[in-house]
Amino acid sequence: MPNPISIIPVPVSCVATGGAAFALTARTAVVAPADAALQFAAAETARLLGVAVADRAPAGGNAVTLTIDPAVTAALGAEGYRLTVTAQAVTIAGGGAAGVFHGVQSLRQLLPPDLERFGWRADGGRVTVPAVAIEDRPRFGWRGAMLDVSRHFSPVAEVKKFIDLLALHKFSVFHWHLVDDQGWRVEIKQYPKLTEVGAWRPATLRQLHETGDDGVPHGGFYTQAELREVVAYAAARAITVVPEIELPGHSSAALASYPDLGCTDAPGYNPQVQTGWGIFPETYAPKPATLQFLDDVLGEILDIFPSPFIHIGGDEAMKTQWEASPSTCAFMAANGLKDGHELQSWFVRRTERFLAARGRRLVGWDEIQEGGLAPGATMMAWRDVKWAVEAARHGHDVVIAPTSHTYFDYTEGSGEEEGVPIGAQNTLAKVYGFEPIPAELEPEHHARVLGAQGQLWRERIYSLPVIERRGFPRLTALSEVVWSPKEKRDYADFQRRLPWLLARLDRLGVNYRRPRPGE
Ligand code: ACM
Repeated sequence: MPNPISIIPVPVSCVATGGAAFALTARTAVVAPADAALQFAAAETARLLGVAVADRAPAGGNAVTLTIDPAVTAALGAEGYRLTVTAQAVTIAGGGAAGVFHGVQSLRQLLPPDLERFGWRADGGRVTVPAVAIEDRPRFGWRGAMLDVSRHFSPVAEVKKFIDLLALHKFSVFHWHLVDDQGWRVEIKQYPKLTEVGAWRPATLRQLHETGDDGVPHGGFYTQAELREVVAYAAARAITVVPEIELPGHSSAALASYPDLGCTDAPGYNPQVQTGWGIFPETYAPKPATLQFLDDVLGEILDIFPSPFIHIGGDEAMKTQWEASPSTCAFMAANGLKDGHELQSWFVRRTERFLAARGRRLVGWDEIQEGGLAPGATMMAWRDVKWAVEAARHGHDVVIAPTSHTYFDYTEGSGEEEGVPIGAQNTLAKVYGFEPIPAELEPEHHARVLGAQGQLWRERIYSLPVIERRGFPRLTALSEVVWSPKEKRDYADFQRRLPWLLARLDRLGVNYRRPRPGE
């Protein structure tokens, strides 16, 4: 029995060609050119199928051949691919290594879920691939998922499992929220206290709206070697890691490590690694030692992360300490900055120049427009897409990441098991119905929308099983929003295809939330 043709995100074009299926056997070989770019995709295909990589197809055919084809590059771009299955051969021709890798994920989804455990031996060794011709390419280049590891830390193995799931869904960006008030999680060689002090807190507030804490110390951080390992792991899977280093706010953990970098002359200044949630007054002060610190930290970050984009946060920076600090007020007056908003803009513009001089691009949350948006900055709209509309009209690239549809720490169902709600209910159907191009944005600015992104903030997401339960299948729905042509999106059809993917997540040991009847 051929398997159902059930791929998520749904391809641009998928035609069942009606011929005999391809039989996957112990003798099937994965054939790829000795090109370094395809070595990982070839090894990964062989691992999935439980077969070997070979130099050429075995006599009589029965090969899965991977190639990069300039004709596909020209027609479908570097992330596009053509996947052709006949009785004799499976061919994946990508526009680039990323396209080949995405094609492998589609092939994987044409095979039964038990493939994940048994390779070609699944289904009693009678696995076949239906005869199809698929042509596919993404709608958006930025298909992102953000994971907060400050509020709760995830060790490298868990981060890799999350990246594996993003790869299965053809996401392209892993946005790694590495620092915040509750923990600094990245080793910086020039400032060791960031992880000696800033990566640890004595306790955690266990729920929103509660005042008590659990009294259990929490912490952890990644060494630079581990960060590089994750970057390489993601890159092999066609995913770029975009690190986020928050400034000028959400910096309590950094300032607890190096108090002199903050507004020391503001009344009551006493930074701590926070044990509760919310927005805190600690902000970096605009003084030479602090600016040197930020340059040094970003310098090390640029060495570790080759991403063209570096996320600098920029959200929810309180202005109270600046405005209560005589030295900061004197700095604002001397630099013609009339208020805290303009000082926020000054920080962002300075950082944008620093990054641009090193060939990188700044991306920040939508508050980076306060006091004037830095030229060249890319905005990630989270409070309201209106900020993205305005920025796109002024020639800025934007990523759409609104609380209204893409915050997956928010409630999904309505049952007791959802716990204390944080914000709106973002149901699976609502996520699926999300349209990244704002309706009011004029067509000439549509190309400014790089894509969209799902958020997993971790105030109440303590562990990997909860990441998985909040993240999936909402990220599954989002993957189709950002990859598939708008006119191919059809929720009823998605609901028919979803069980096949969820069965695969079962085999992969993913604690996803099982949709209730009717959802
Ligand atoms: C945010 O949710 N503070 C970007």
